[in-house]
Amino acid sequence: MDSVGNQNKVKESSYRKDVSDPNSETSLIFSVKEEVGSLADALKVFKKHGINLTFIESRVSQGKGDGYEFVITCQNTNEQVSDVVSDLKTELGSTVLILSRDKEKKDATPWFPRHIEDLDQFANQILTYGSELEADHPGFKDQVYRARRKEFADIAFNYRHGQPIPRVTYTELERKTWATIFNKLTNLFPTHACREFNRVFPLLQENCGYTAESIPQLEDISQFLQKTTGFRLRPVAGLLSSRDFLAGLAFRVFHSTQYIRHPSMPLYTPEPDVCHELIGHVPLFCDPAFAQFSQEIGLASLGAPDEWIEKLATCYWFTIEFGLCRQEGELKAYGAGLLSSFGELQYCLSDKPKVQEFDPIKTGEQKYPITEYQPIYFATESFESAKSKMQALCELIPRPFSVRYNPYTLSVEVLDTKDKLLQFAHQMQGDFSILKDALNRIL
Ligand SMILES: [Fe+2]
Repeated sequence: MDSVGNQNKVKESSYRKDVSDPNSETSLIFSVKEEVGSLADALKVFKKHGINLTFIESRVSQGKGDGYEFVITCQNTNEQVSDVVSDLKTELGSTVLILSRDKEKKDATPWFPRHIEDLDQFANQILTYGSELEADHPGFKDQVYRARRKEFADIAFNYRHGQPIPRVTYTELERKTWATIFNKLTNLFPTHACREFNRVFPLLQENCGYTAESIPQLEDISQFLQKTTGFRLRPVAGLLSSRDFLAGLAFRVFHSTQYIRHPSMPLYTPEPDVCHELIGHVPLFCDPAFAQFSQEIGLASLGAPDEWIEKLATCYWFTIEFGLCRQEGELKAYGAGLLSSFGELQYCLSDKPKVQEFDPIKTGEQKYPITEYQPIYFATESFESAKSKMQALCELIPRPFSVRYNPYTLSVEVLDTKDKLLQFAHQMQGDFSILKDALNRIL
């Protein structure tokens, strides 16, 4: 069975310390030059400002030049941290990146990315690194597979917005695994996948190299998606938190893995892999209504309280991952977890599972398993209908502003003042004039 997209069921990892009390701690990375005593000098800066470190980890610098980086977590006030950051930069010439900052007030709005480049910060906030496998993973004891997974994780870790996604030469064994899955699934699509999926799948075969023989490249797909709906891919080194993963969707960015599952079990993966992403997710990102629906969930998540992130992630699970729809009186699959699983794609349309109407308020509360077939699915009439229902849910999210995405600047605008609303209204007036003119010309 294929159990994927489990972003909201993450575990604490050794890679990055979990911040137990987000109201009093800050995590950051700073660099030091490769010379004797440089770490001691940096630690003196923390001491000078009375900051107590609760976690420290070193690693070879991921940035330009030689040297080391230190990931630290400290107890602090915002003012103290600002002073430390300033001193590290001026006195030691360090580069400093704040990973998570405490909230000034308990009810303050959580930080969220405002510009597409801000998503670069997520590369350092992953909850597991690609080569860290659980003991029951099919590749756990396979050192060659684990080394390969690290290669993919490193590509993603070093990726920054605007760069082409590095191309990968997949091995013969990897291509064989892909071919097994591709052939089995494409046989089922005409009868099991929704109409929109079957309409766009040939486009990917024509434009992005979707064949049984070769694994398509993320960069080619990302370029094609940008031309169709403005969606784009970015490689991800490991599991992101639900909040970060959903925030990517607000910018029409889908975080995609690039590695493939272990060859010993080609029809099973305990986590998302390139087959799940490219066969399950990518095709529907070419559909405008689906792309819009996905972005709505992302926009709703920005600055939302934690309990609302869980509801949104659950709605994501039962739609984008495991959604069904009704077409011409029949149930069809549109969720990526279904469309990339030979077994569950057949099971979900059988009479075994329960199927209920998609209702975000109810669906957002539904519990679900992540390592077995879903006992319950939610069906929608159309992506438009699912989007309208999600919008109604989003109106209930307690946050003191609305947001809208500006595709010209690739940024999120926070609509929280009268001036911003007026500016928005003027832009809409322009769009309405175009619509009125177009209607007059064709009616
Ligand atoms: Fe997924």
